Amino acid sequence: MAMVRGLPWTVKYRPRLVNEVVGNRKAKKEFMDWLKPWLMGRVGERKAAFLYGPPGVGKTALVEAAANQLGLELVELNAGEIESIEQVRRVTSLARSHGSLFGRVKRLIFFDEVDNISASVASSIINEIVKMIKVSENPVVLAANDAWLDKLRPLRSEDVSVLIRFYKVSSREIAERLTYICRAERLSCDRNALMRIAERNDGDVRSSILDLQLVASLVGRRITEDSVKSLAGFGYRDREIDVFKALGRIFYARQIGAAVMAVNQFTYEPDLLLRWIAENIPNIYKDPEELFSAYEALSLADLYKARSNKPGYWRLERYSRLFMSAGVSLSKKRWPKGSRFKYPRYLRELVASRRVRELRSKILAKLSRRLHASQRKIISEYLPYLAFLFNHDEKFAERLSRILRLSKEEVEHLRLLGRLYTVE
Ligand SMILES: Nc1ncnc2c1ncn2[C@@H]1O[C@H](COP(=O)(O)OP(=O)(O)O)[C@@H](O)[C@H]1O
Ligand SMILES: [Mg+2]
Repeated sequence: MAMVRGLPWTVKYRPRLVNEVVGNRKAKKEFMDWLKPWLMGRVGERKAAFLYGPPGVGKTALVEAAANQLGLELVELNAGEIESIEQVRRVTSLARSHGSLFGRVKRLIFFDEVDNISASVASSIINEIVKMIKVSENPVVLAANDAWLDKLRPLRSEDVSVLIRFYKVSSREIAERLTYICRAERLSCDRNALMRIAERNDGDVRSSILDLQLVASLVGRRITEDSVKSLAGFGYRDREIDVFKALGRIFYARQIGAAVMAVNQFTYEPDLLLRWIAENIPNIYKDPEELFSAYEALSLADLYKARSNKPGYWRLERYSRLFMSAGVSLSKKRWPKGSRFKYPRYLRELVASRRVRELRSKILAKLSRRLHASQRKIISEYLPYLAFLFNHDEKFAERLSRILRLSKEEVEHLRLLGRLYTVE
């Protein structure tokens, strides 16, 4: 599948030139004006440019495009990955020296996503970055979604940085970029279809481009408003299905659409489904290439899942679902033989553990007293429904917890049981 095998279009169509970055005209101008004195071979004011605004609008893209276009050596560090002050000091030594004999700027120092600096090291790292800005012979750029976090206060200070604000990109401007990509990919794209994709993504260019790729990979070369509309449903959950049904549709799907739909309709946590799929891949797929491809898709699903947990990035969650469904489904070369799906090992162990057995018998005792039924009958007849309702009806869950005086742990256990039962 293109999504798995090829490059994501956000990477393939990363802007190489500043004017390929659409929208945010004012911010782009402020940034280029700030850069100018540095380019004239002078040391500019010793202040960083601090770009901030919503995700996916081209902050990182602008800095990279500018460096590329102006022939600057880009020294880029994702602040979320900084663990020690040494990493910053290494950058500082690069920041202090010129790249060339004539003192012309050759470097651009870029600390991306400074709002992600981990809390434990934040204050010392941030102080070190401030120090670097003060001694740098090269321009330093900072970027973040949220510049107003308390921990970033030293970086916002007037004598340390110039704040440059980015906004959501208008649908018209997003559509402009999508049109460019459609041409490059030789797709025939309806203008209304592109506007619809842009509108769905509320000013986020990155997600819009990924959506375009998703639509193209599912419907082919002709992208119409109708095809976008019909896929819009993929972002939502229509009807619930249980985990076995979902697995069946993922592994045995004849059409990718069915696999994607299955994951979207699965209303329990996607984390749980991911584990089920992981555990069942070697059970269903036997060929090494199939296995490799399926695990690769799953690791991408996991990656996007992790990214989507960052504030502001929830939209990426859908790519996680896409990889775990279509990605895994398309990994098969031939039809897998029918096999029974296995419970993930961790669930089996959990259910078998002593603590859990104790918990369960406590719950059963309470239920049995209340319902005047034997524990066996409760296990076979009531528990599956109670557990199911527990996950699907908050009011019911609350009432039952109160009536039975369930402890927090017992409530948790019932919820877990609910996820184990299939409901047909
Ligand atoms: N304004 C834009 N113009 C063109 N492409 C963009 C724009 N914004 C985002 N993109 C695309 O999305 C990708 C991710 O955007 P990025 O610059 O990392 O967003 P941000 O740093 O604002 O979160 C870019 O590599 C590019 O492919
Ligand atoms: Mg960025």
